[in-house]
Amino acid sequence: MAASAVLHPLGALDLDRAAALHAEAFVPFGERAWTRQDMAELLASPGVAGLLLQAEGADAGLAVCRVVADEAELITLAVRSDRRRRGAARRLLAAVFDHVRAAGAKTLFLEVAVDNPAALRLYETTGFRTAGRRPAYFQRGSGPAADALVMRLDLS
Ligand SMILES: CC(C)(COP(=O)(O)OP(=O)(O)OC[C@H]1O[C@@H](n2cnc3c(N)ncnc32)[C@H](O)[C@@H]1OP(=O)(O)O)[C@@H](O)C(=O)NCCC(=O)NCCS
Repeated sequence: MAASAVLHPLGALDLDRAAALHAEAFVPFGERAWTRQDMAELLASPGVAGLLLQAEGADAGLAVCRVVADEAELITLAVRSDRRRRGAARRLLAAVFDHVRAAGAKTLFLEVAVDNPAALRLYETTGFRTAGRRPAYFQRGSGPAADALVMRLDLS
């Protein structure tokens, strides 16, 4: 990751940029793009926080998580396609771990589609372990829905 890369909390002024990052990452999977309004409602929910990563003066990625009591959830993680394989996701995840630990979480959960080998590899190499499977969890446009693996990471 470039030394000039900076992380900052996702705020009300970043909604369009966050929605654009999310759409660029997930529409290719056949998922519905989140709107600015979706982002606003999500970030206004209890316990939710977002992070925006900028590199070389441009938006490179985002992460959104939620903490409820001692459990946290990674709600979304996306890196712009022309910024991938440079450690951006690892950097975002490290910042998420710091945030949720500081907020009192002991375990971090996420759901990842079984047809997403890049994300599966990322989470496996970061220490997440499979805790369950949700059949037909991710809608894929007009195609068949994809199963999700539930993964968990012990933060203690
Ligand atoms: C998954 C995603 C977030 C990874 O972002 P990234 O910035 O490229 O990831 P990093 O550069 O930090 O890579 C960290 C590790 O993840 C794994 N990884 C990342 N992309 C990979 C790929 N295309 N194939 C295999 N492994 C991959 C590797 O283990 C990699 O380490 P390495 O580069 O030392 O081999 C990115 O591809 C993305 O935004 N995809 C679309 C959205 C998505 O799938 N989000 C996650 C949904 S749960």
